[in-house]
Amino acid sequence: MKLRVSPPVFPSRLHDPRTATSIGRWLGAAFAVCFVTGLISHYLQHPPDWLADDLPSRPVWGYRFTQGLHVASGIAAIPLLPAKLWTVYPRLFAWPPLRSVTHAMERLSVAVLVAGAVFELATGLLNTAQWYPWPFSFVPVHYAVAWLVVGALVLHLAVKAPQIRAHWTRRSPGTLALPAQEGPDRRSLLASVGAAVGAVTLTTVGQSFTPLKDFLLFAPRDPDRGPQGLPVNRTAAAAGVGRVADEEYRLVVAGPRPFTLTLDELRALPQHEAELPIACVEGWSKSACWSGVRVADLLERAGAPAHARVRVVSLQLKGGYRVSELGHEHARDPLTLLALRLNGEELDPDHGYPVRLIAPDRPGVLQTKWVGRLEVAA
Ligand code: HEM
Repeated sequence: MKLRVSPPVFPSRLHDPRTATSIGRWLGAAFAVCFVTGLISHYLQHPPDWLADDLPSRPVWGYRFTQGLHVASGIAAIPLLPAKLWTVYPRLFAWPPLRSVTHAMERLSVAVLVAGAVFELATGLLNTAQWYPWPFSFVPVHYAVAWLVVGALVLHLAVKAPQIRAHWTRRSPGTLALPAQEGPDRRSLLASVGAAVGAVTLTTVGQSFTPLKDFLLFAPRDPDRGPQGLPVNRTAAAAGVGRVADEEYRLVVAGPRPFTLTLDELRALPQHEAELPIACVEGWSKSACWSGVRVADLLERAGAPAHARVRVVSLQLKGGYRVSELGHEHARDPLTLLALRLNGEELDPDHGYPVRLIAPDRPGVLQTKWVGRLEVAA
């Protein structure tokens, strides 16, 4: 007796190219924003030598905006991705699964696209909660997979271009009205997906867009919670610094005319104020009023050449962000401070007591805390 396997049946009328195009447009926009803002973050943290001196220091909230957008668009993509995959998954049961070498390559690119997109959203989300349940280093792997996803997405859009074009607008010639049938219509599905995107955005975006902080429900960080009303990622205890004793503290400025300052000497120098945000790579950010000594004034006194870069070295003994570099644009910026006070009070040890770097338009991980040394680079 011959066994006949009948093909699976997908009764919903919403597994159609028009619905895939409608949701795909939003998903594509979210991934494009994630990719561009992710590249900005990458180049601000790891600038190639030719770019290091030209990183912009204005607007002061630039990184706060781009990284807040990166995390917000990544979170918005979380309901969009399963919605898109649901509309198209019947196509994955098309028979025969492989029709030619070209078709096999296209299937492979779809597999890379789906796996890479799920990986990026999952690892990105867990990173915002500072939870790393994997054996690899998050930053380089998230960055490398982003390129894979974008490559596979461009290929996907090229392969699907005729269908996308035919179904781009409701009035496109290829867009047929849905057959009358029981079940939700396209407008209801899109409205539900839109509501899910709105809900996850509204309940998380307040971690960087502080006017909406009262709606925070799922965001791992409340921008008001932390010492002196400002969150911290790495505490003084975690960095192995503890509370630095005032009488033992020295700031060493190494340059053509090197000098050393005690804490009292630093406090006696002209103090300047700057309203600048701490903008974390994990998406949260908050503005605060900092006051302290201009890095440019210290460089002047050390006889640093006008175009010199500066290495800012922390008293912490370990950790990837112990040292950061200021290109000359940031080093000479009047808003770049070695801050001694935050919102009118001495810094809390977790905010870098006695001295921390604060500079405009710069990722939080590069705002070095517990600064012990400035080195004028060649
Ligand atoms: C991360 C982003 C995306 C993922 C993971 C994804 C995934 C998929 C998958 C798995 C399929 C079925 C593939 C097949 O069997 O041929 C598909 C089909 C399709 N996708 Fe995407 N896609 C993404 C982005 C987009 C975007 C941005 C658009 C358009 C703006 C789009 C439009 C389409 C269309 C028109 C189809 C064919 C639907 C059909 O024939 O019924 N996709 N997508």
